[in-house]
Amino acid sequence: MSQGQDLIRRRLAVVPRGVGMFAGETTVASGKGARLTDVDGREWIDFAGGIGVVNAGHCDETVVRAIQEQAAKLLHTCIHIGTYEPYVALCEKLVELLPHGDATKVMLVNSGAEAVENAVKIARQATGRPAVFTYDGAFHGRTLLGMSLTSKSGYKRNCGPFAPEIYRLPFPNHFKHGGGLSMGAFVDRELNRFREGFISGPVPAEHVAAVIIEVVQGEGGFIPAPPEYLRGLREICDEHGILLICDEVQSGFCRTGRWAAYEHAGIVPDLSTWAKSMGGGMPIGAVVGKASVMDAAEPGTIGGTYGGNPVVCAGAIANIAVMEKQDLNRRAASVGEIVRARFEKLRERCDVVADVRGLGAMIGLECCYDRDPSRPATEVVKIAAARCREEGVLVITAGPFGNVIRVLSPLVISDDDLSRGLDVLERALIGAASEAAA
Ligand SMILES: Cc1ncc(COP(=O)(O)O)c(C=O)c1O
Repeated sequence: MSQGQDLIRRRLAVVPRGVGMFAGETTVASGKGARLTDVDGREWIDFAGGIGVVNAGHCDETVVRAIQEQAAKLLHTCIHIGTYEPYVALCEKLVELLPHGDATKVMLVNSGAEAVENAVKIARQATGRPAVFTYDGAFHGRTLLGMSLTSKSGYKRNCGPFAPEIYRLPFPNHFKHGGGLSMGAFVDRELNRFREGFISGPVPAEHVAAVIIEVVQGEGGFIPAPPEYLRGLREICDEHGILLICDEVQSGFCRTGRWAAYEHAGIVPDLSTWAKSMGGGMPIGAVVGKASVMDAAEPGTIGGTYGGNPVVCAGAIANIAVMEKQDLNRRAASVGEIVRARFEKLRERCDVVADVRGLGAMIGLECCYDRDPSRPATEVVKIAAARCREEGVLVITAGPFGNVIRVLSPLVISDDDLSRGLDVLERALIGAASEAAA
């Protein structure tokens, strides 16, 4: 038995199967840049990036050093008990990078789901209203409220009852629901449906605290919301005193070539949620928002023992510094162009590739039989991802039907590794598709 097999055996004996294994029996011992090494010493090209966490690469030296130095000084005190500099410094940095209007404030938490939970609590306190609108295909985390807002039933089976006052809208997915309409006509139709919903739908506008939207749906299949839709949504929210929450947990921190994906649409939300690549591997998240909205939450109603722990703050500050120094927003644009061009070419050669889409370096490829959006080629994608892993490229999938291949490689990946990984992916998909056709 290899060391990897032995580790998996030990895992299966003590870790419940509910803690899913989304990339087969992959093991990991160490990481550097865009490469991982498994416990048997085999090197991998990482296209998963810890599910979008390591945009700045694995174990950057300056990040590791900042964590070590902070750990030697102060591990914990709790922000509710004693104010420490790394918490404040990180909030200052986030205010600088992510201004939400004239005055911005930030609270730090431990994860993306916690950021979402707190954003909703803040929105409810700020508006005095209960309802939250979310979208089909949304993913907002695995806490009870996060799951209530999430849309994939496989993540929720027998976990309810779920939180009340949550209403679901169709996500503006032109590929799936465009029905031959131009993008402009499609967006108009979707925004009109939204407005009409205040009359004919479940709740009137004055009942709604917030709309939460992923600017680019992540787990839902790497689907960017059209910028015209986001601008229309901003207007509807303003007309009705509804707060707009952008969930940037997966799309933020350079993934799309900007600090925030919403910048592409030229909008500013009232609140936004962050985690993943903000910490570069440290368990940290944030709610960023307009100061007037953030200050509506009463003292004691938000926070927690560990949120914004000194060590994770030090790691996040150093991680953001790496992103700035290496201009990873610019690098994301070029990684995105390379991946998109390769996927477009693949689409010409392989008729299971139905859609290539994304923003910046958040690019996905949806596979459907005969390119029919209603016939997801789940099995082809599953086989292709497994073949990639056999060849040392760690690839993960997305979408409610698991028929989307998504690329979340660290942005520090070399052109050479990117190209080699894409070669493997291309071969694997063409092979899996032709076997399915035979
Ligand atoms: C958009 C979005 N929101 C929230 C979450 C939940 O984040 P976490 O797993 O850190 O709780 C995720 C995780 O994938 C996500 O993609």
